[in-house]
Amino acid sequence: VKGPVRIGEPLARYTTFRIGGPADVLVEPVDEEDLARALAWARDHGVPVTLLGGGSNVLVPDEGLRGLVVRVGLDGIRWEDPDPQGRCGVVVGAGTVLARLVHEAARRGYQGLEPCAGIPGTVGGALVMNAGTRDGTIGQVVDWVRVVEPGGRLAVWPRERCGFTYRSSRMQVEGVPVVAARLVLAPGDRQAIAAAIRRYTAYRQRTQPLRYPNCGSVFKNPPGDASGRLIEACGLKGLRHGRAQISDQHANFIINLGGATAEDVLALMTTAWRCVRDRFGVVLEPEVRL
Ligand code: EPU
Repeated sequence: VKGPVRIGEPLARYTTFRIGGPADVLVEPVDEEDLARALAWARDHGVPVTLLGGGSNVLVPDEGLRGLVVRVGLDGIRWEDPDPQGRCGVVVGAGTVLARLVHEAARRGYQGLEPCAGIPGTVGGALVMNAGTRDGTIGQVVDWVRVVEPGGRLAVWPRERCGFTYRSSRMQVEGVPVVAARLVLAPGDRQAIAAAIRRYTAYRQRTQPLRYPNCGSVFKNPPGDASGRLIEACGLKGLRHGRAQISDQHANFIINLGGATAEDVLALMTTAWRCVRDRFGVVLEPEVRL
């Protein structure tokens, strides 16, 4: 790998939860070929690999991660010329901070990414988990994604092949790393786009405990219901374990009060999961990557 290689690097500083033990080896490839090479090397040597984007939807164990942790830092945004209908393609590296893309699109007057406003993390992470809101997800504006297929080859998957569903994709299910994507955005009214971004951001700030380190929603919402509502109905808001707490602002968020361990978070997740199952017969599915 041409990029930096770090041995025993504590991963807490790479996650928004500020939780996680050391990586055996952390690498940051400099380009797509470099990344594909690292993955091929790991495969050939039977070394386990974990991919890390912005670290905003992951709970890294206190023991850390064995093998190779690959930080996908490939960033860059390339805007194409608009087509005759005014629609615009944009090719973006997986390591690009999602917020940067959202704001560039807004500044240029392209719509479609407003529901992604205020979502932390990188474009690659957002694609893999099909980030968004009820009103729209990033998968809806994807033309294609470039991935590293299990053989180590770079391949382009058209949107239909990505299998975007609620908070998931085929890349996630099959553990296929994303290195870049092409999105297509429609022209829109700059003021309306800016207003929508303000609305989504304000809603998050009002309803979510963003002042504390967290990983966003802990569980996916079950069909037709909200995990936050169910966990609150179990009376679990404010419950603490060690230095972690079920937020009393939003029950589907766990916050790090400072010095929380992955163990603390897992204990709270288990309590919430059991309680919702016993009380409502609903089996919650984690959204945070464990
Ligand atoms: N609710 C409660 N108690 C709570 C929290 C929520 O009763 O403690 C109720 C709310 O009153 C509301 C419903 O549950 O009626 C839904 O709550 P909210 O609007 O806050 O949204 P959510 O379903 O909890 C989803 C996404 C969030 C996204 C918000 C806003 C999932 C798992 N979560 O949360 O995404 O920010 O909508 O669009 O789909 C994430 O994926 O990490 C994430 C933060």
